[in-house]
Amino acid sequence: MKLASITQRLSGLGSDKWAVHIEGKRRAAAGEDLIFLSIGEPDAPTPTSIMDVVNSRMRAGRYKYAASRGECDLLDGLSAQYTKSTGRQISTQQFIFLPGTQTALFVALQATVELGDEVLMADPYYATYEGVIAAAGGISVPVGVDPDNGFHLKAADLERAITPKTRALLLNTPSNPTGAVLTRETIAQIGDVCERHDLWIISDEVYATMTYGNTVFASPFDEPRLEKRTIVVSSLSKSHAMPGFRCGWLAASEDFIEAALPLTETMLFGSQAFLEDAAAFAIANHFPEVDAMKQSYERRARALVAGLKGAKNISARMPEGGMFVMVDVRKTGLSGEDFARKLLANENVVTMPGESFGAGGAGHVRVALTVDETQIIEACKRIARLASALQTSP
Ligand SMILES: Cc1ncc(COP(=O)(O)O)c(C=O)c1O
Repeated sequence: MKLASITQRLSGLGSDKWAVHIEGKRRAAAGEDLIFLSIGEPDAPTPTSIMDVVNSRMRAGRYKYAASRGECDLLDGLSAQYTKSTGRQISTQQFIFLPGTQTALFVALQATVELGDEVLMADPYYATYEGVIAAAGGISVPVGVDPDNGFHLKAADLERAITPKTRALLLNTPSNPTGAVLTRETIAQIGDVCERHDLWIISDEVYATMTYGNTVFASPFDEPRLEKRTIVVSSLSKSHAMPGFRCGWLAASEDFIEAALPLTETMLFGSQAFLEDAAAFAIANHFPEVDAMKQSYERRARALVAGLKGAKNISARMPEGGMFVMVDVRKTGLSGEDFARKLLANENVVTMPGESFGAGGAGHVRVALTVDETQIIEACKRIARLASALQTSP
């Protein structure tokens, strides 16, 4: 039987990138004691009061079919949140509630990209981007960012990569894996490029609430002139430690949302009302646990950078946001892949090879800040021990 071409386009874009993590999980299941720094899954529990809403709303009968765009309270909450963050009125008709950022990305790409269209993205990039682009028939065009310049995307580099086939830019700030956060000025310059070449901006803002030090999050959606070409995708997965709730959304112009709605209706026809109630509660309220979680990521990042300071052959710089630190292992002479494999084999520490996030991640390993400081400090000792035992490249 003949399969559709989407299966070929996506073959090889699945679990290969997670090989080191999967090997770590296999060894942990066999009883070995490992430090896992591989997956971006918050270690903190979901705030109890949010879980209580799920429970009580389910018992109150909120398990029937929900509105396909999203339930009223949730849309009101999103409208209030984005009206506040952008400083202009964002209506309830500018959102679709979806199961996580990942589904929102899928919908955004399906609605904007046709077979053979090119999609730009900073390289390194989040591991599923190639897949969502390929699923839509698009071609990924990685735009290199300089590790020695904090992995910041430059508007001029973006413009050089544009061809007549370029249709969209997939932006991610704060970035997974690099921790780079784009300033308002850079976003404005990128916006100029996208306006000049009439490109969509798909803005993955899943780490928007996680910036550190004096860094301020900025979104192209904040700029009125860019609203009609910007599609924001986000969720509560990271901000509220709710990855398994699959509570995410699209935010865009009313026209885009009207056009994309039949696509999501064909796919899902609504989400779970009791989860939408919990999401509405999460969006409308303030949680000390969420503040504490954000502070803990920042403390852990600082502990990691301090723990590797002065180590031979490796270095790490403080991320501006997100949940990850890129450790530069280029001076060891090993690829990120080989370093991550040796680190697992010799030191029982599980990281992600930088190459899993594109060629731009070469010579790095990505560390997730999802274990406590004691384990971070122990991991630093082991990473430094391995790096100092390796030959320095000339
Ligand atoms: C950059 C980025 N985008 C999207 C996602 C997927 O998020 P969600 O769990 O909300 O689908 C992740 C998850 O790690 C991510 O890091």
